[in-house]
Amino acid sequence: MRTAICPGSFDPITLGHLNIIVRAAQIFDRVVVCVAANATKTSPMFTVEEKVEMVRRVVAPYPNVTVEVNHGLLAEFARKYEGSVLIKGLRAASDFDYEFQMDLINKRINPELETMFLTADQRYTFLSSSIVREMAHYGGELRGLVPEEIIGVIEAKANTQRG
Ligand code: PNS
Repeated sequence: MRTAICPGSFDPITLGHLNIIVRAAQIFDRVVVCVAANATKTSPMFTVEEKVEMVRRVVAPYPNVTVEVNHGLLAEFARKYEGSVLIKGLRAASDFDYEFQMDLINKRINPELETMFLTADQRYTFLSSSIVREMAHYGGELRGLVPEEIIGVIEAKANTQRG
């Protein structure tokens, strides 16, 4: 069974992430969405439990997609799934520079681990979790940026954080 691992911070999951996950689920037998718990990024908007809950909600219609939390190195996590590959979405050349570096360090840790890239759908090339967080902070329209079923959760969180 071929497994694709779709890793990310998902703070929060966007329609761009979901598009990559669903496309991977059409190509691979199984997709494991790997939510990074460590996130060196400071002050995330959501707790890891909240992120996982949102991801689980939006991937629920896809029977071959599951969600897990990773507390350590991604390349070590991938060892749990023999022959698995990492799937990353590329929006622009700048994404490639970063992902190329990530692939090289991941291969130092786990030489058998391959990374495959899917180009972003043109509707989402501008989209990122940080754009969503900023839009939410200012009360902007989130429809078209994130899955409908999590808009309420994001708006509620933004409201509490605005005080
Ligand atoms: O959505 P993001 O923030 O681009 O996702 C980045 C992520 C979480 C996939 C990446 O930072 C990650 O896998 N972190 C886990 C730690 C790790 O393995 N780092 C690479 C070696 S330094």
